[in-house]
Amino acid sequence: MILLGPPGAGKGTQAANLSAALKIPHISTGDIFRSNIKEGTPLGVLAKSYIDAGKLVPDDVTVEIVEDRIQKDDCKNGFLMDGFPRTIPQAQKFDNMLKKLNANVELVINISAPDSAIVKRMSGRRMCSCGRTYHVVNLPPKTEGICDACGSKLFIRDDDREETVLERLKTYHEQTSPLIDYYSEKGILKNVDGTKPISETTEEILKIIADLKG
Ligand code: AP5
Ligand code: MG
Repeated sequence: MILLGPPGAGKGTQAANLSAALKIPHISTGDIFRSNIKEGTPLGVLAKSYIDAGKLVPDDVTVEIVEDRIQKDDCKNGFLMDGFPRTIPQAQKFDNMLKKLNANVELVINISAPDSAIVKRMSGRRMCSCGRTYHVVNLPPKTEGICDACGSKLFIRDDDREETVLERLKTYHEQTSPLIDYYSEKGILKNVDGTKPISETTEEILKIIADLKG
């Protein structure tokens, strides 16, 4: 399953809820890059130069990471992609790698939110290195600055500065939004409104999945 949508639509937020409800791993290429940046790996150094500019990390680098990750044992019963694929070539390569594993994309959830709401959301976002996402107003942690789930200190993402957010939105409209047609044509895309309360959107997606399973 894939979660598609502009930066700040709520992919990571919904992925955490869905991963817990469905008991399948949540794979975020953004989180993988951020943990490499934190550890100072060569991949992290490379990724940071693109991420801080609001650009996409090159396809070949990103595809290799995903190919490696989805072959891990915990992906045997399915997995949830957050932030991948993000370009048509990534989607085509993803289809090919799944075919080799005798798998396929079953469902793509497109979470929409207008650009104006996104810029507001990003300024209040707080992240944890465990992958949890908070918002100072919309989804505050129980203790300010501390993750409810693991107790680590929350941080502000470097790419959440307004000018970088605007660049990320531009990148999304140019390179990622064509994936909406790509998956619509395959008949596997469902749209959900990302401006509703977080729990309502989670329920809506779980209902889509339940209906699909019949
Ligand atoms: P990535 O980490 O994937 O960032 P993104 O797509 O820009 O999306 P975000 O994580 O910013 O937003 P989100 O949709 O997860 O929203 P969230 O749930 O946090 O990628 C970062 C960078 O890495 C990219 O720019 C690129 O450079 C690189 N990269 C990653 N994948 C790549 C790929 N495949 N190819 C190439 N490069 C790649 O929610 C946002 C805020 O809103 C939170 O504070 C949350 O609490 C709040 N919120 C969420 N839902 C609601 C709601 N319903 N109501 C109110 N507030 C809400
Ligand atoms: Mg995210």
